[in-house]
Amino acid sequence: MARLDVGRIRSHFPALDAGVAHFDGPGGSQVPLVVAQAVADAMTSGMCQRGTLTATERRTDSVTLAARQAIADLVGGDPGGVVFGRSMTQLTMDLARTLAQGWGPGDEVVVTRLDHDSDIRPWVIAAERAGATVRWLGFDTVTTELDDVTPLLSERTRVVALTGASNLFGTRPDVAAVAAAAHAVGALVFVDAVHLTPHAPIDLASLGADVLVCSPYKFFGPHLGALVASPTLLEGLRPDKLLPSSDAVPERFELGTLPYELLAGVTAAVDFIAELLPSSQPGGSRRERVLTSMAALEAHEHVLLRHLLDGLAGIEAVTVHGRPARRTPTVLFTVAGHSARAVHEHLGALSVNAPASHFYALEASRHAGLGDGGGVRVGLAAYTTQDEVDRLLDGVRALLG
Ligand SMILES: Cc1ncc(COP(=O)(O)O)c(C=O)c1O
Repeated sequence: MARLDVGRIRSHFPALDAGVAHFDGPGGSQVPLVVAQAVADAMTSGMCQRGTLTATERRTDSVTLAARQAIADLVGGDPGGVVFGRSMTQLTMDLARTLAQGWGPGDEVVVTRLDHDSDIRPWVIAAERAGATVRWLGFDTVTTELDDVTPLLSERTRVVALTGASNLFGTRPDVAAVAAAAHAVGALVFVDAVHLTPHAPIDLASLGADVLVCSPYKFFGPHLGALVASPTLLEGLRPDKLLPSSDAVPERFELGTLPYELLAGVTAAVDFIAELLPSSQPGGSRRERVLTSMAALEAHEHVLLRHLLDGLAGIEAVTVHGRPARRTPTVLFTVAGHSARAVHEHLGALSVNAPASHFYALEASRHAGLGDGGGVRVGLAAYTTQDEVDRLLDGVRALLG
């Protein structure tokens, strides 16, 4: 497999010039200049509202449609089923409320303790309001692998919500297997791919996701969220909306005016991903180039991940939490005798950004015995170098004297 040219990739990110080693990608990646430029260009190109009469209207329309196509190419979806919103959290809250219109006592939803709270609380709140029952899927506290979902399923299961990858431990559950079991009882499968999308090729159909959500600011894009489903599924739902706003799908789900300039940034981010491995398939579709680039990125990140895990394993005071079979290059650790916050501060003073928290995966942190403090999270990205990983490891060793 062709290798990534990390030096070339890094040259696109102005923020890296400051010399900070960014292991904070799971909180939000750094942004290439082309993405920022696309946002600025869109804002100054003459846009207003979507329409077909004036060049201004058509430009605004095409920016919107291009962003839907970009997300569809990224995850293998249908552009007609791509909904944009302020964040994944907002989209999930809205969808859970909409789906719950059809629930009542006796209906059930399954959530996991491994998930970010944005893929738990919206379902819990919606279920409580509808009088439905919440079933909790746990995980092994040592490996962080999900428990078997089958005993939680019944013909009354309406939704199974699970993460494509844990933003705390990096665990990648076997989503396709959970989805197959959920589909066998007629449940809808909702996949939080916010942490998975920046690290692996995504294919909605192979995952078995009926609905998938992701957040472009985690993969070199601007701050907003995207939801992907089949247009047919969306056609059957009636979200709260204003009277004069479009009832077409996917617009029916988009409240108010979209941030068009950010949508231009989404397209630029997906184009940037497609070119992580430049000219890998001249003439190949963007979808094909995305898949090849993401496979190369995954391979690159896993070489660095091995180096990171080996280095941390060699430091006696360090505990790495979780040893999942399949994972993203995201590692949570704690250091004996030092609070996670103190480690974060110490590393920050060395220009190494590795934050400490539960990162909103509060249930996961508590279930794993880490309480509300969580740990120090190290996230690798396309722009991470081995030198930076060594700086982090040296920093942890320095803390221990
Ligand atoms: C796994 C995961 N899911 C969901 C979210 C929430 O995304 P958003 O900020 O777009 O609501 C995050 C944010 O960190 C996340 O890491």
